[in-house]
Amino acid sequence: MKPTPVLETLNLTKVFPGVVALDDVSLSLFPGEVLGLVGENGAGKSTLMKLIGGVYPPTRGRIRYKGEEVQFRSPKDALDAGISIVYQELNLIPHLSVAENIFINRLPRRGTFVNWARLYRDTERILEESGMSGIDPRAIVGELPIGVKQSVEIAKALSYDAQVLLLDEPTSSLTGPEIDNLFSVIRKLQERGIGIVYVSHHLDEIFEVTDRVHVLRDGKTVEVMDTASASEETLVARMVGRDLEDIYYKGEHQPGEVALEARGIGDELLDDVSFKVRRREVVGIYGLLGSGRTELLKSIVGARPRRKGEVFVHGKKVRFGHPQEAARAGVIYSSEDRKGENLFFGQPIWKNETYLALQIGRYTRFGFTQTAEERRDAEVYSRKLGVKAPSIDVDVYHLSGGNQQKVCLAKALINDPDVVLLDEPTRGIDVGAKLEIYKLIAELADQGKAVVFVSSELPEIIGCADRVYTMAGGRITAELTGDDINEENVLRYCLQTTTPGVAAS
Ligand SMILES: Nc1ncnc2c1ncn2[C@@H]1O[C@H](COP(=O)(O)OP(=O)(O)OP(=O)(O)O)[C@@H](O)[C@H]1O
Ligand SMILES: [Mg+2]
Repeated sequence: MKPTPVLETLNLTKVFPGVVALDDVSLSLFPGEVLGLVGENGAGKSTLMKLIGGVYPPTRGRIRYKGEEVQFRSPKDALDAGISIVYQELNLIPHLSVAENIFINRLPRRGTFVNWARLYRDTERILEESGMSGIDPRAIVGELPIGVKQSVEIAKALSYDAQVLLLDEPTSSLTGPEIDNLFSVIRKLQERGIGIVYVSHHLDEIFEVTDRVHVLRDGKTVEVMDTASASEETLVARMVGRDLEDIYYKGEHQPGEVALEARGIGDELLDDVSFKVRRREVVGIYGLLGSGRTELLKSIVGARPRRKGEVFVHGKKVRFGHPQEAARAGVIYSSEDRKGENLFFGQPIWKNETYLALQIGRYTRFGFTQTAEERRDAEVYSRKLGVKAPSIDVDVYHLSGGNQQKVCLAKALINDPDVVLLDEPTRGIDVGAKLEIYKLIAELADQGKAVVFVSSELPEIIGCADRVYTMAGGRITAELTGDDINEENVLRYCLQTTTPGVAAS
């Protein structure tokens, strides 16, 4: 006898002004099952999660939970019933501590006062059960790196005694060990009979952790298959509606003179880091969470204070006090944290894309802002990056996660930078659109630009970079070129903390 699904959606449809986000989708989830949910950017995955989680009501269709029809009026309704969500865009409150975020709306009290001792004790227990005992319950969330924020979000979802767990791109800011850790937690929950929906653009994760896969395209169900009987090619073909031969792309460029060089960058997180990037070159930087990758890029452009070291742009020593100064000198940094640092929600696509360029005076002539020019550039770059939206006047808040990411990239590239530092440029981007971005990166290098990109995705570093630096513990541990750029090498060097051949100081 077939078990009853713990969760079912029946012909679920969601219409937003001008967009049918979800069209007649019926999905079922069984107890103890991990169901993968895949599809291109804008296919409707997050919308489906939010309908189930009570964020907004469906336009049509029904939801059945534990055999009964339900209508959640709020996320709290869904949570109380046992449906817990990790949202794609992190929803933590930055000025509160880890513990307060996890226990928000249910702080343990003694009389009218918060019982802090118990709060911290309970938080420690939850973090430990989630395999995250390294996180300090008292730390202020806003000050944590994005990967740790994501771990806190996951711990929060796990802290509810849920029957159904919805994970919307839970690993987008995590690296190797944290992902393995999440998988072992997922397996434990699975054994306890909890049903899990797992949304991801990382097909290797889908193959590793799911039992079945539900594929969406343009808001509709394309196919539901057993993971064991699916191959990567068929899955990709179903998602994008065509075959993709190549996933990675290297250009034809021959590196020229040095465009940017950093020497001996050091502070409390970075230890004597030196690296360079040439014109017509794509340099990859790979390291695990906390290895110092993001801090390095931020130090160079003046997004965090630099204590030691020197930076040279085209051979000239510079000291940028602010990313806008760096931008004026043709060095652009694109942050990994699209919600926190990169986008202005409530503003249209075009204003977001031209924001930085406007700041550095790009669209100002004789004291007047050239709005028509701004809009024209935004049209061009939105098209180039494949931003899916009815027009450039749409509020970025309404875009799907992957499309927001494309807007972030457009915001950097619209400046036509000489040197571009991309921090996790493909975070949340679907497989088809990724290929377009790799081509764009190669094209930039072909045109004579210097490109540095930090990524947690090993295959994309290996597939796209001409030269690779590995980082661990705030240091560069190796520089790899040619055939030495392979998975084994990169992983080996990012797990060690001393440079080969150099004695630890
Ligand atoms: N609140 C909203 N208002 C208007 N349109 C919306 C809203 N939320 C989502 N959409 C639109 O619905 C469609 C589906 O978006 P959704 O976020 O579900 O995609 P997704 O599959 O999660 O994509 P991604 O992989 O990029 O996260 C998109 O076209 C998006 O712009
Ligand atoms: Mg989404």
